[in-house]
Parts: sequence; C-alpha cells; structure tokens
Amino acid sequence: MHVTAIVPAAGSGARFGAAVPKQYLPLAGVPILVWTLRALAASGRIDCVVLVTPPGHEADCRADILQPHGLTVDRLLPGGADRQASVCAGLGGAPVDTDLVLVHDGVRPLVTPEIVGVAVQAAATDGAAAVAIPVTDTIKVADGDSCVVETLPRGRLWAAQTPQAFRAAWLREAHERALRDGFRGTDDSVLVERLGYPVRLVLGSPENLKVTTMADLARAEQILRSRMGRVGGGR
Ligand code: CTP
Ligand code: MG
Repeated sequence: MHVTAIVPAAGSGARFGAAVPKQYLPLAGVPILVWTLRALAASGRIDCVVLVTPPGHEADCRADILQPHGLTVDRLLPGGADRQASVCAGLGGAPVDTDLVLVHDGVRPLVTPEIVGVAVQAAATDGAAAVAIPVTDTIKVADGDSCVVETLPRGRLWAAQTPQAFRAAWLREAHERALRDGFRGTDDSVLVERLGYPVRLVLGSPENLKVTTMADLARAEQILRSRMGRVGGGR
C-alpha cells in the first residue's frame, strides 16, 4: 500500500499576525513545519511527501527550513489562494500510482505517529478517514444577526482535525468535482462526503491542535514540555 502525504503549508497566517507565515515560527526552538514533517516520518507509514508552500517560497523553504534540520521532501510545490487550492496543487504532484493520499496541515505539529497510523489504517480498510474529536461545547447555529436558529445535539458532533486519508482516486475525483462545481470546503473530507463516499471518523486528540493564534503556540509549547517530562520522567 503506497501512501503519499500532502502537507499544505501555503497559508499566510493572517490570524496569527506574525511577520512570517506561522508554519515557519519556532516551537521549542524548531520550526512548526519541521515538527510536522518529523511526526509524519516517524509514523513509518508515509512513502512520499508532497510539501506545498506559499508561491515563491519553495527555494527558501528548502534552504532555510528543511536542510538545516536534515529533512527532505519528494516534491515541493507552490500553493494556491486557499487551502483547498493548495491541496489540489499538491495532488498534482502525487505519484499517479499511489494508493492512498493523506492530507495533514503543516501547522498541526503535535500529531503523533499513532494518529497517523490509525488514519492510514482506516483509509486502507474503509476508503476514507478523518481524524476528529468529540466536541465538548454545545454548538449553536445562528443567523446573520447572531440570533440562534438551532442548537445541535452534541452527542453526534465531532470537530474535524487532520490527518485525513483517502483512496487516491476518491480524493482526486472529489477535488475535480469541487473545482467544476465551484464548491469550496474547509477540509478535504467534505469534498469526498459530497460525492456520497463514506468517511470514517477516527479518534484524534485535543493535543493535535492547529496553531492558529499566539495562544495555540503557547499551548503547543506546554504540551511538548509535558511530553518530554513523560518520556524522561518516571519519578
Ligand atoms: N494553507 C495552504 N494554502 C492556503 C491557505 C492555508 O496550504 N492558501 C494551509 C496552512 O498553511 C495551514 C493549513 O492550510 O497549514 C490550515 O490553514 P490555516 O490554519 O487557516 O492557516 P493560514 O491560512 O495560514 O492562517 P489564516 O487563515 O489565519 O491566514
Ligand atoms: Mg486559513
């Protein structure tokens, strides 16, 4: 089973508001993107990595982020205007005969090799899998005036994370159809869902956070410190 990982890292990090895109910022002294790529490699489940960076960043990313940390990727491609376009660009660089494509946000550095393994396994068995966690807040749907329209039953609600893994043919078809229909989604699963293919949810972790704001970066530092304590500890 040949697995290609697409790592969309072509965003500008507008909500974070740093001088450089957040995927390059240091987390415990190492760029966020390096943590992400190391975690994927550590899973032992990925045969090919396609990294997608902001257009024009390809050479600098290789020289300033990957090389100093001894990392290589199989393809490094320029992204698009939104995440969906960047993943679509990455798909164009995936080997034609790959069986599964796993998509993982460049800014989810704390994914564990175990979670990657579970996502790959579920996609190999069922065709499509998305890592997710049950929501703990009560979720409401509001109208344009912030007036509640509906309160959703929490028992069936999940917050989607990445990785999300798919039969390569399903994901290619999903992106092609979305492009043709002018459909924009905020993850890859929804593109596959709308074709009617079943997507299996597999349990992620609250620690598998997406670095969106400064507070997320601080929490990621904390989680890493506690992980190091767990590894070196025992007393
Ligand atoms: N992403 C991408 N191409 C884009 C936009 C986003 O590859 N045009 C990537 C980001 O680099 C990130 C992932 O998609 O790894 C999740 O996106 P998000 O957290 O929204 O990152 P940004 O778009 O960079 O942040 P913001 O929305 O605050 O600008
Ligand atoms: Mg964004």
